[in-house]
Amino acid sequence: MQRLTGRRCVITGAGSGIGRASALRFAAEGAQVLVVGRRKENTDETVALVRAAAGSAVAHVTDASVEANVERVVASCVAELGGLDVFFANIAVTGTNTPLLEQSLDEWAEVMRANLFSCFLAVKHAGRHMTAQGSGSIILTSSAASLRANAGAISYSASKAAVNSLAQTAANAFAGTGVRVNAILPGLVETQMTKKVFEQARERGVEGRIGHMTPLKRAGRPEEIAAMAAFLASDDSSFVTGQLYAVDGGVSSTHPHGRIAL
Ligand SMILES: NC(=O)c1ccc[n+]([C@@H]2O[C@H](COP(=O)([O-])OP(=O)(O)OC[C@H]3O[C@@H](n4cnc5c(N)ncnc54)[C@H](O)[C@@H]3O)[C@@H](O)[C@H]2O)c1
Repeated sequence: MQRLTGRRCVITGAGSGIGRASALRFAAEGAQVLVVGRRKENTDETVALVRAAAGSAVAHVTDASVEANVERVVASCVAELGGLDVFFANIAVTGTNTPLLEQSLDEWAEVMRANLFSCFLAVKHAGRHMTAQGSGSIILTSSAASLRANAGAISYSASKAAVNSLAQTAANAFAGTGVRVNAILPGLVETQMTKKVFEQARERGVEGRIGHMTPLKRAGRPEEIAAMAAFLASDDSSFVTGQLYAVDGGVSSTHPHGRIAL
């Protein structure tokens, strides 16, 4: 499929995991990708992987939770790629599992800055360019943890629930402008962020139990989230805005349970 031919796309958090897989998928579909990452070696590696697959990408190393940086990302995309059609705001931090009553406001502020404010900045600065242009797709990475407890730190879940609301409210704020905003809610996927969970399960020989409560009985792959992002970036989703898409093996459709007889 070549649904993104000619599209100029920013992907943040693209030095690893879901962002990297999305850079590869977007480029494979014909997009030019501005690969935004915090660490130079990871960001450069993603660009090299895209180019090795005959795709088009350039690196931009920055902290994507800082307003002046996000403004610069948008300006660089316009200057270097000739415009901006898609902004995939994908960075996040996990927060800690400190007991709730001992958590500090500083810890919450850090999580909100990385997870929520980065999405607001994407909506604001990409939205400013795209509303003037009369078209564009903004995609926010939320999480299945935004919907229910116990799938991540409390501050992480709360920040992602706010991202869901931002996708819905921004889509409506942009009514009539041609700019769409949607969120993806991944379930458990093996990436840098979740490495420990997978490593510990392997060490204990219980890897097979990962994802056992999801209808599809497994964890996801970064490429499976990238496929949804590519759909939302493309005109295949031209009538879709303000939506929250869980890509989670079905886990958000259910409650944790024991065996159910078939
Ligand atoms: N892996 C999962 O199971 C899972 C589940 C639900 C949601 N998500 C979400 O998917 C998104 C991508 O995460 P991932 O799983 O690919 O993990 P990852 O750790 O591989 O990717 C996150 C990337 O964001 C970068 N990053 C973090 N803060 C940054 C900042 N301030 N500026 C620039 N870059 C920054 C990191 O360096 C990293 O490369 C996140 O929003 C995460 O919350 C992941």
